[in-house]
Amino acid sequence: MKVIKIEKDQIDDELLAQAARLIREGGLVAFPTETVYGLGANALDREAAKKIYAAKGRPSDNPLIVHIGKKEELEVLVKEVPEAGRRLMDAYWPGPLTLIFPKSGLVPDETTGGLDTVAVRMPMDRIASCLIELAGVPIAAPSANTSGRPSPTLAEHVYQDMDGRIDLLIDGGPVGIGVESTIVDVSGPVPVLLRPGAVTMEMLEAVIGKLDTDQAVLGPVSDKVKPKAPGMKYRHYAPRAQMILVEKGLETRETVTETINRLAAEKMNQGFRVGIICTEETFDQYPKGMVKSLGLRSKEETIAHNLFAVLREFDDLEADYIYSECFPESHLGQAIMNRLSKAAGYHMIHTGEDRE
Ligand code: TXA
Ligand code: MG
Repeated sequence: MKVIKIEKDQIDDELLAQAARLIREGGLVAFPTETVYGLGANALDREAAKKIYAAKGRPSDNPLIVHIGKKEELEVLVKEVPEAGRRLMDAYWPGPLTLIFPKSGLVPDETTGGLDTVAVRMPMDRIASCLIELAGVPIAAPSANTSGRPSPTLAEHVYQDMDGRIDLLIDGGPVGIGVESTIVDVSGPVPVLLRPGAVTMEMLEAVIGKLDTDQAVLGPVSDKVKPKAPGMKYRHYAPRAQMILVEKGLETRETVTETINRLAAEKMNQGFRVGIICTEETFDQYPKGMVKSLGLRSKEETIAHNLFAVLREFDDLEADYIYSECFPESHLGQAIMNRLSKAAGYHMIHTGEDRE
């Protein structure tokens, strides 16, 4: 796999044009976006879309997001643009918001996993938008990780997962946001949040009023319920360790740090390798174990930004168990807790409880 380095504030057009040509010719190119790195191919080319599934080891019923460079490029991909979709585009495109529309005949089934809807996003990242413009075609791109691993927020992560499987990696440095885009389905009568992200529920409601939230966002989905975003049913972001989230219980004086230290000590005494996920504010309160801070609790963006990298670091450290602090579920916290809960397989305990 070839790697090219491109500076965001000084884009080398000629270098990027090579990447764009690869996309046009049906190749696979990983590139940075403001959310996570994507694994891109020509969205209108069935064979190229198929290659994406193969490179990721991804089930073919899990549809891809189509990335465009200009709002005008949406029209040919969709049957119609409902009013809620129009308003959200006007407010948050370009940016970390994916919208689901009824698809047009131009978009192949391979790109949409056989669905009659298509997910579209207009990224804000300059490398991503220049690449789309130079390619002259919409780019289908899932997160550039092997299926089941945390999404890549550094070029190194893509390298680890994709070397030997794709044609080119554009290294644009660390991404900004660190969690994947917000997904809202505007194809039905009521807009539905399918995946929380940096365009928060509060920001969505400010533009279109109340919206529904898909089951899969709120908790584990049983085999009987079909989540609207097929990808939400998989145990994404899963670290190799067993992960447990620790939340403050109401009926005890034991604090979150005390509970985590107690449970971690038990596991370490049994010979296990134990990781602890905390924040700058609490870092000093964990004397033992492999302790990693996500960032500042008082600055949620730092937590989102570091989350997936920390999960990958614990894979490298071969942790057996990971105990993690929780976060309030408002604003960006909803996306953070959604990713943490999925990584933990929804395994959460409350302080004062004896066992994990
Ligand atoms: O931030 C992002 O969205 C990144 C960057 C690269 O843009 N991409 C990303 O793609 O996270 P991926 O494939 O990892 O996640 C896409 C999610 C999956 O859960 C998929 O099931 C859902 O979007 N999705 C795609 N098309 C859909 C559709 N037509 N209806 C419902 N859900 C859809
Ligand atoms: Mg993904």
